[in-house]
Amino acid sequence: MTALLEARAVCAWYGQAQVLHGVDLRIDAGELVLLCGRNGSGRSTFAKALAGLVRRTGSIVFAGRQIAACPTFEIARLGMGYVAEQREVFPTLSVEENLHLGIKPGAGRSAARKIDAAFERFPMLAQRRRTEAGALSGGEQQMLVLVRALMGEPRLLVVDEPTEGLAPQAVAAVADCLRGLCEQGGAVLLIEQRLTLAQRLAARVAVMGHGRIVFDGAAGTLDAKTIDEWVAIGSGR
Ligand SMILES: Nc1ncnc2c1ncn2[C@@H]1O[C@H](COP(=O)(O)OP(=O)(O)O)[C@@H](O)[C@H]1O
Ligand SMILES: [Mg+2]
Repeated sequence: MTALLEARAVCAWYGQAQVLHGVDLRIDAGELVLLCGRNGSGRSTFAKALAGLVRRTGSIVFAGRQIAACPTFEIARLGMGYVAEQREVFPTLSVEENLHLGIKPGAGRSAARKIDAAFERFPMLAQRRRTEAGALSGGEQQMLVLVRALMGEPRLLVVDEPTEGLAPQAVAAVADCLRGLCEQGGAVLLIEQRLTLAQRLAARVAVMGHGRIVFDGAAGTLDAKTIDEWVAIGSGR
């Protein structure tokens, strides 16, 4: 089977400072891969490298195309969704308008159906349908950017700490929709601190340490304690 994403020897820099030192990671269609690691280990930078938001080298093949030199909009067009750690809503637009912006151009009348389906699935957003996104709580904004990314029906969703600051009910909704995306043949790279949640979802776990993958294996063989140990090894402690 050809991989949906195959990253090899990916390095990345902020100015002169090298943060990734040769990351290898493969993701197949239908897979949810958990990426964990200590703060500062380079997880967000790897997500940005995939999305074309940071200077990087190496090979990144996505959906059959080499994207290591592609600009962000082209990577998005190929079907990679990216949800950043910062909640980037359009603050003066309503919740509904924000969701509209996530839909691919040309969806026509099915756009309204997609938005209705999203509101059905996320009642907390439905209640705030006409509210300016800037007036939502942090958790609601987090939910909104995630659902907006799903509106684009990504083949791979790269999502950076999506449950940070969310209430338990919202966490469950996020988990549901990530699972749903994989069941429909999409894939997810999930950067997540809540290991218990992530483990329920992920079949594979990769651990980042100092800009490299220090562990990559089946989630079934790992418990939260073992993952923590790998994280500690990766951070050199
Ligand atoms: N915009 C930036 N400019 C310079 N250095 C950065 C920037 N973002 C992150 N870094 C540095 O890159 C390293 C990896 O950070 P990051 O990828 O955010 O790690 P993680 O997401 O695992 O916490 C850290 O040492 C961090 O200080
Ligand atoms: Mg981060």
